[in-house]
Amino acid sequence: MSLGTETRSPWVRLSRRRDRAGEYGVSTMQTRSINLRVDELLARMTLEEKVGQMTQVGVLQDEHVEMVRSGAIGSSIVASSAWAGHEDQPDVVVDRLNEWQRLAVQESRLGIPLLMARDVIHGFRTIFPIPLGQAATWSPELVERGAAVAAREAAGVGIHWTFAPMVDIARDPRWGRIAEGYGEDPVLASAMAAAAVRGFQGGDPAAPDRLMACAKHFAAYGASEGGRDYDTVDVSERTLRDVHLPSFRAAVRAGVGTLMSAFHEIGGVPVTANSHLLTGILRREWGFDGLVISDWNAVAELIDHGVARDRRDAARLAVLAGVDVDMCSGCYRDHLAELVRSNDVPAATVDDSVRRILRTKFRLGLFEQPFTDNHRSRTILHCAEHVAAARETAAAGIVLLRNEGGLLPLGKRCSRLVIAGPLAQARRELFGTWTLNGVESDVAAIADCVRQTAPRGMTVTAVGGLVDEICSAARKSDMVVLVVGEHPNRSGEAHSVDQLGLPPGQGELVRTLAALGKPLILVVVSGRPLALTWEAEHVPAILWTFHPGGEGGPAVADALFGRINPSGRLPVTMPRSVGQIPLYYSRKNTGRPPATCRFRSHYIEGSYRPLFPFGFGLSYTRFEYSDLELSAATMSADGQVCVAARVTNVGDRSGDEVVQLYVRDLVGSVTRPVAELKSFRRIRLEPGEGRRVEFVLRPEHLAFWRLDGSWGAEAGEFTVRIGPNAVEGLEGRFTLDNAVAQAE
Ligand code: GLC
Repeated sequence: MSLGTETRSPWVRLSRRRDRAGEYGVSTMQTRSINLRVDELLARMTLEEKVGQMTQVGVLQDEHVEMVRSGAIGSSIVASSAWAGHEDQPDVVVDRLNEWQRLAVQESRLGIPLLMARDVIHGFRTIFPIPLGQAATWSPELVERGAAVAAREAAGVGIHWTFAPMVDIARDPRWGRIAEGYGEDPVLASAMAAAAVRGFQGGDPAAPDRLMACAKHFAAYGASEGGRDYDTVDVSERTLRDVHLPSFRAAVRAGVGTLMSAFHEIGGVPVTANSHLLTGILRREWGFDGLVISDWNAVAELIDHGVARDRRDAARLAVLAGVDVDMCSGCYRDHLAELVRSNDVPAATVDDSVRRILRTKFRLGLFEQPFTDNHRSRTILHCAEHVAAARETAAAGIVLLRNEGGLLPLGKRCSRLVIAGPLAQARRELFGTWTLNGVESDVAAIADCVRQTAPRGMTVTAVGGLVDEICSAARKSDMVVLVVGEHPNRSGEAHSVDQLGLPPGQGELVRTLAALGKPLILVVVSGRPLALTWEAEHVPAILWTFHPGGEGGPAVADALFGRINPSGRLPVTMPRSVGQIPLYYSRKNTGRPPATCRFRSHYIEGSYRPLFPFGFGLSYTRFEYSDLELSAATMSADGQVCVAARVTNVGDRSGDEVVQLYVRDLVGSVTRPVAELKSFRRIRLEPGEGRRVEFVLRPEHLAFWRLDGSWGAEAGEFTVRIGPNAVEGLEGRFTLDNAVAQAE
């Protein structure tokens, strides 16, 4: 199909100014309110054309030509299957997308442009750390920049809509998709969710280097039983509101244009058919006016859930619940028009969904600029600026968990280094899950980066996989760096595990090397927390990186040699064993708080404590906290309390510290967590430098889902703590003198 520059669409009156599509000369039409334009267009649409807008198909094939011409398709997910996170995907060819767009705009009756979507989760061609690794930076700024880079690259090849950020709270590391979110805490995840939306969408998602974002998977997907993907979720309304909704609320407040409903059920009601969630909370309470898309085939899966008799029933339940777009099940395409004609679905329901879809397309500027300039993309994919951004983020997410005897950074005490292990030579594996457009040749292995950047006078021997080889080389060395961890195929969708130790054979390798008595440094590359209890007791130095992306090699080498000072902090609790799961810092106190004595919450063999707590991370320098100050002992209903402490770098090199603020509500109308993160700040301190770090607490920070089902703070006593992680710091007290109702 040749690309025309004139369009038949009645909605695009051309003028001569060049625009986003550049060479196509398609230009901006006169501005009118989007809603007016939507209503005008809607009034001209047939029922079949409306249902077409609500239908999303996979990558467009020849079989779709007539469907596009007849307006029976509204969007395409540019992916060959539902397993895009685990399979190589066809490349995105901008000319091909433009050809499909021309067909829609020039050859369909109303010329409504297509939405082109793809899972651009943590980078497009330049791959950033997995979102869990980005959360370990505790830097919303880095997360926002990473999303902006991903948007620039993906929009450059014709993608309009990304199915990201994934903002599900995850407290079960067995769940493979813990890799894709921002960890266990609502406040940290909310900050990252808002940052990602800002990065993807910018101030205007219609800009040629931005994408429409999609907060997913609404909601509580990470609470599935057994950590098994897609499995039953049965959380209380209170846990839903206090734990699992805030990060979505933050994304909506940040202006996210779309949400994706999740596969699972909550308390017997599958989310795809859950009007309480999709309409009651999302639209009526929160006022969300964007579109909701189902997950892949989830509409049809209402039959498997056992709430829909057949595909027609599934389509009815989903559209009535508030699902605007059916991703790839075909149930809307096959049954929705008939459901309306038989009055089983009000015509107004379909109109409401189509309005939201058309509004999204107008917001994206697709009626003015349906085509993508195919020259720009070639210059920006994996450009130096993007690579540098990915490297900085990878470095900032590296967590130093142990450094006994100051083994790290590697230096003068080591002139003969061996680097080995199953992930020492890994390249593509460093991407992690959901990297559809990553290119392995972009990646340098950790071992290569260590060998190539070792300081003068240090010889580095990189050894392959055989234990005997590694041991033989280790005996002749001063120190050994062992790179272990997970292949990405243990992460991501449908890849949950029931053990949390190192993958088979790696634990034995660690023990064998540790037995040699050489100073051993473990570099762990994973998509989840792992229960490395033996390693944490016997290996003196442990660096942790959640699949660091394409620049993980240089970042880990820089951390090993001290060119960067590790500053990552855990976004999830590290357990001692899989038997402790679920295990998270903001636990309830219970009537018999944990203690190692009988008739208390504990295990008769193991510890109830985590291996490493949420927020934990060491540095090559040391930080001390002092001089806690509260501006007042009482917070009034319209007031605030400023909480400050002095943080001093008492070591001999600069470093970043993530200062964290936790609160505990001592008495509530319902039980309250023993600690809740309320704010955090990443600061850089030079050796000897001290800084006063101040947080402002207001009643809205103390709000929760109260006994009476309202959202707000309750009068009473609170403890407040400023510290380096969820269990340490300086503690004070204040009182809130009155209950305060808040908007959720
Ligand atoms: C998958 C995932 C979802 C993804 C979608 C499209 O099943 O659950 O996160 O965006 O399908 O690939």
